[in-house]
Amino acid sequence: MDALPTSQPAPDLAALTDALGPLAPVFDIRWLESCDSTNSALLDAPPAADGKVHVFVATRQNAGRGRRGRQWLSWPGASLTFSVLWRFAPGAPAPAGLSLAVGLALARTLEKLGLPAVALKWPNDVLVHGAKLAGVLVELLPCRNVPSAAVIGIGLNLRLPANANIPAREGGVTDLAREMGEPPSRERLLSAILTELHPMLVTYANAGFGLLKSAWQQRNAFANLPVRVSGEGADIVGICLGADEDGALLVRTSDGVSRVLAGEVSLRAAS
Ligand code: BTN
Repeated sequence: MDALPTSQPAPDLAALTDALGPLAPVFDIRWLESCDSTNSALLDAPPAADGKVHVFVATRQNAGRGRRGRQWLSWPGASLTFSVLWRFAPGAPAPAGLSLAVGLALARTLEKLGLPAVALKWPNDVLVHGAKLAGVLVELLPCRNVPSAAVIGIGLNLRLPANANIPAREGGVTDLAREMGEPPSRERLLSAILTELHPMLVTYANAGFGLLKSAWQQRNAFANLPVRVSGEGADIVGICLGADEDGALLVRTSDGVSRVLAGEVSLRAAS
């Protein structure tokens, strides 16, 4: 069996800055050769607030984390893995809808790069033809018991090795190479995502998820389909109505409309 990829050439940081254009000064981007998890690195030692948006990118993550305590498997050159530290201004909207806004920014980026049929699975998986292309892990950084910032982790599959042993999931997994042929370079992709993400986060900070809701609904992979939501309590089975103004998932059940808040929830086509 082929060995899994372990190295990559150094990133072209000048090309990244060029591609970001006027947005380049907004960001402080640290590209690490390797770390356990870019989310953990930002959570454990958040850079001082200096007005920049701090981004940690890793060519290799040794212990990438996904939602619900899962692992996020990635390999150098096979995946783009990075995290953004987004600080909340006082009075900022509740973070519940933030991860949906991030998923929407990813979908828009991929559409602009020419990928058709990008869909979003609540709260923030990015799917193409039902298979998972990217995932988002938002974790909050508390300050005196109030969330002061979010660490927004993004993992995007670029070219998964044939012998990657990714645990089976509904719909399977996919990568950009399969969906669009030659994927853009890591630098170009990162700059395209940050260029879409930054204004999206600003809109979210100013107006909350309400303004982004209809764009999210248009890409809802399960719109009006029968779903099963498994959370901490009993499963909820019904028809997926989409997200509400706060980013909660609405499901029409035989007892009325259930509102599912952010948490450990999975969504499945009901049998
Ligand atoms: C999921 O779909 O479960 C979320 C996956 C998020 C993975 C990214 S990769 C960069 C960042 N660092 C991590 O450890 N996780 C996120």
